[in-house]
Amino acid sequence: MELFIDSADLEEVRQAAALGVISGCTTNPKLAAAAEPGSMRRRVREILACIDGPVSVEVVAESVEGMLAEAAEYAAWDPRVVVKIPMSMEGLRAVHVLERDRDVRVNVTCMMNSSQAALAMMAGASYVSLFIGRITDLGNDADAAIAETARFIEHGRFKARIIAGSMRSVGDIQRSFLAGAHIVTAPYRFLPAMVHHPRTVETIDEFKAAWDEARQRGGLE
Ligand code: E4P
Repeated sequence: MELFIDSADLEEVRQAAALGVISGCTTNPKLAAAAEPGSMRRRVREILACIDGPVSVEVVAESVEGMLAEAAEYAAWDPRVVVKIPMSMEGLRAVHVLERDRDVRVNVTCMMNSSQAALAMMAGASYVSLFIGRITDLGNDADAAIAETARFIEHGRFKARIIAGSMRSVGDIQRSFLAGAHIVTAPYRFLPAMVHHPRTVETIDEFKAAWDEARQRGGLE
């Protein structure tokens, strides 16, 4: 059970890493476009310096050759870079070459059901990313997609680990772990939301008030 941060924003990654609960990072072209402009290579190196685990970087090429070229570039940045390949016919061919012949770890992304995940795992993917929010948007059962993928891993003895992405709420994170995701990747904003509980704040305030009052009475040193 691991939590990754889904962000290409260095400050967010730093803040999340300081909490000690993050063991990896996922980026995508949309997240990169939303972050500070600048070299992706430098950003990924800075992110790698903040966390101990893998950082996923997604290809934008659509041809197999293009994906392989981009993957070679990203993988050369650092051994902890995982190349994200979107699910497609071309994508599967690239996954197979990268994992089998080039010793590059691949995260197959943008997946909406367990059939896609099964193919990605057969092609050799190290990570399979199911997009929970987007699956739910379509009226489909995201928990079932995770649970089915977990069963496929068992039956097929695949090495892949399930990443649940596209989080829309703290409840999505909770449910994804319970459904069997090995990893949940979540935007930074959900971390304070997971920490905060009004009753926790109330309890801390109550304890502090009792302590202060006792001190004022001279009953505590
Ligand atoms: C996961 O790796 C993706 O970056 C991400 O979770 C996509 O989620 P979205 O539906 O918020 O775009």
